[in-house]
Amino acid sequence: MTQSSDRTRREFLKTAAGGAVLAAGSLHIPFALAESAKIKVGLMLPYTGTFAQLGVAITNGFKLAVQENGGRIAGREIEYATVDDESQPAKAVDNAKRLVDREKVDVLVGTVHSGVQAGMVKVARESGVLHIIPNAGLDEASTVMCAPNVFRSSFANSQTSYPMGKVLAERGVKTAVTLTWKYSAGEQSVGGFAESFTKGGGKVVKQLWLPFPNVEFQPILTEIAALKPDAVYVFFAGGGAAKFLKDYQASGLKGKIPLYGSGFLTDGILEAVGDAAEGVETTLHYGDSIETPRNKSFRASYAKAFSKEPDVYAVQGYDAGLLLIAGLNAARGDISKKKDIINAMEKVEIDSPRGKWRMSSAHNPVQDMYLRKVVGKENKVTGVAIKALDWPPADRCKMG
Ligand code: PHB
Repeated sequence: MTQSSDRTRREFLKTAAGGAVLAAGSLHIPFALAESAKIKVGLMLPYTGTFAQLGVAITNGFKLAVQENGGRIAGREIEYATVDDESQPAKAVDNAKRLVDREKVDVLVGTVHSGVQAGMVKVARESGVLHIIPNAGLDEASTVMCAPNVFRSSFANSQTSYPMGKVLAERGVKTAVTLTWKYSAGEQSVGGFAESFTKGGGKVVKQLWLPFPNVEFQPILTEIAALKPDAVYVFFAGGGAAKFLKDYQASGLKGKIPLYGSGFLTDGILEAVGDAAEGVETTLHYGDSIETPRNKSFRASYAKAFSKEPDVYAVQGYDAGLLLIAGLNAARGDISKKKDIINAMEKVEIDSPRGKWRMSSAHNPVQDMYLRKVVGKENKVTGVAIKALDWPPADRCKMG
């Protein structure tokens, strides 16, 4: 489903703008005309299914950044073309091509699901369109698939789980069972956890899987009860995470076998799960309670604009907007100046609600990974698990 806009008018304005630049001086056509062509942003995100709320939060965050910038970027108005990717990898390439080839977007923003992301990055690499990933942690986007025009304002999957394994090993936890959806994000999340946990002396006694986006947890919870590990590590997000937390509590395992995860387990769902998440510890690059004026003002503006508390997804969408603003400002709004835009996006320090961060040479955020604990309706930051984590190591990316 594409919500497009007035393409013919836009093309005309672009032509008019080009003409103005050439003719200005001799014909006295005002330079202001050159600013009238809009920047077209393609938003390819999930708006249905288990990740629907994540897509909405990212969209809200992005639009808030633009709104706070006066509703324009580098003097140019923004228009959006939106596609619901349904978290369906099989439709990813077609959906991304629809935005790039048919809608002719200037920048492609998306998505949430790592399997869909693989298709988007492929299209971005082939077309050269400027691409910002506002969530999906697909490790390959920062390693074998990295590219000059591909940037991420979020995280890499293993970057968010590696700190949790380290924390548990340092606490002397000996055995863990892992559980997640069997797709790239789940595999990489569990992989990052297992890497640091085993390095620190822990043992993953069993890895359990469900197909995405299955939420039939009952048989697996019975198996976990029989295995009796010291800890359970999971990667779930969105609607699936909310259902898992409730089922974990209902099965009687809560309070018996401590549950851990990357912070997606408890972000954006606390209103929906009663006290099922209380006390759950996770690691992530954001926490609701970060005590900075920047985070507080962001949270207040977001809550005012959307009548909802922000979460990590909102922050990532917001930072995607800040990143694009930095890039386009450096090029004075001229999207054809790719080198200038990329240069600026590589160098900028993003003043984010999560704390200040910069891109690694692989175009993935180098950022603090917080340890958090659910207290009431808040993901409370209790410490920094790893400072300025550049992961996967940026030297695994060779930009052509
Ligand atoms: C992913 O598929 O990369 C993914 C999805 C949802 C999250 C985090 C990562 O919350």
